[in-house]
Amino acid sequence: MKEMNQKSTPLFDALKRYVDDKVVPFHVPGHKQGRGLKELSDYIGERALQMDVNGMEDLDFANNPTGVILEAEELMADAFAAQHAFFLVNGTSAGVQAMIMSACEPGDKIIIPRNAHKSTIGGIILSGAMPVYIQPEINDQLGIAMGITEENLKKTIKENPHAKAVFVINPTYYGAVSDLKAIVKLAHSHNMAVLVDEAHGAHMSFHHELPVTAMEAGADMSAASMHKTAGSLTQSSVLLLNSDMISVDRVKQVLSLTYTTSASYLLLCSLDIARKQLAINGNALLEEALSISRWAREEINQIDGLYAFGNDLNGMPGCYAFDETKLSVNVAGLGYTGYQIETILRKQYNIQIELADMHNIMALVSLGDRKQDLETLVFAFKDIAEKTEKVNLSKTIAIPASAQMIVSPRSAFYSPKKAVLLENSIGEIAGVMVMAYPPGIPVICMGERVTKEIVEYIQVLKEQKCELQGTADPYVHYLRVLGSE
Ligand SMILES: Cc1ncc(COP(=O)(O)O)c(C=O)c1O
Repeated sequence: MKEMNQKSTPLFDALKRYVDDKVVPFHVPGHKQGRGLKELSDYIGERALQMDVNGMEDLDFANNPTGVILEAEELMADAFAAQHAFFLVNGTSAGVQAMIMSACEPGDKIIIPRNAHKSTIGGIILSGAMPVYIQPEINDQLGIAMGITEENLKKTIKENPHAKAVFVINPTYYGAVSDLKAIVKLAHSHNMAVLVDEAHGAHMSFHHELPVTAMEAGADMSAASMHKTAGSLTQSSVLLLNSDMISVDRVKQVLSLTYTTSASYLLLCSLDIARKQLAINGNALLEEALSISRWAREEINQIDGLYAFGNDLNGMPGCYAFDETKLSVNVAGLGYTGYQIETILRKQYNIQIELADMHNIMALVSLGDRKQDLETLVFAFKDIAEKTEKVNLSKTIAIPASAQMIVSPRSAFYSPKKAVLLENSIGEIAGVMVMAYPPGIPVICMGERVTKEIVEYIQVLKEQKCELQGTADPYVHYLRVLGSE
């Protein structure tokens, strides 16, 4: 095996050389190193725009890398103990779609947790695969979906022995992980590939107290949002491959279908630098992130009405382990919804959290946080709790049971549709997905029968002014369902 120097940054170095050479740029982008976009250049800095270039011989080509991008990808693969790594500039969404399209042909079954991100539905529509939904475990006290269990997967595999792949989320948005090693063993024993959505787990390989990752567990592929938790720029992600079942050629061909021919070098370069940082200093940086997150969790748990959950969930159904960098807090005991707490934190304390739902919020702690930031958050929580009249834990609003899939998402996507009032859509087959964003998990997915509980749940989300997406009508008064106008 080739010895890799994780201290090197081949792509970043090549880009610096290009900038230092003061090349006369008769190539895209047309802002020509910022001179054609002065206002942005003045604000963001000339250097950033000088680095915004396009593929050329010495900077390699993201679509078919043979030079410095390939070297940077090889270093990334080495850092994650994968056979191959592919840099992505359209987020893990592109990676999730590429995984499904690489593993499945039209008509193939794929086992997918129903709480998967909307990009999996995109992957299913594009590939023509048939989803077999597996229900995640629901924690009723918190009102959130957790991971899947080995028992449930065994049952689903027994009912669908010819499925091509099993899709796993590692970890969930809140931090819960399934027993990935057991899942991989089980799926592989039935010749099914394991595809892992690590949108929220890109950092986990770099500290031993964080949950096991896809590559460590022997999964075939994973897509990791380096930009979410591992320091690179927004949109930059990595697709990892380590498989006897899925070939590197297949993955390359799939990627070339949707990959831009103008990948941003700022994004690509940030992946190169973030990988070096993780490989060299990741352990120390994550030690600090874990330490301040643990401190905040303990402090918050002393505040009446709040419950910062974490490792205490381990062993409960669907939670084999927990990523403690996710500072997930149940706020129901204060008598507020998570959405309300999000607004209070933003408007009164100048704090923006990552995620809110009916009963919980999640503050993302990463290698960029400092203790003082967590102190600010803890202070805000204490202040809110002091000013709030305590109520008993309100009854959680249950996530509605998943609707029945009547036609595949792909058939629904290509079927004629009509718009009906949301309240009149009960019993119809949805022609769109509706999801709260974040987390981007469809409440109803195209092809599913709309139920009364789902309509009521969407109405509650609307009342809470939660950001709903997926429908043509941004206010979700109307839903598009199958049928002709
Ligand atoms: C579970 C999950 N998977 C995939 C994605 C897509 O990741 P990206 O935003 O990098 O495209 C997200 C984004 O929030 C997510 O939460």
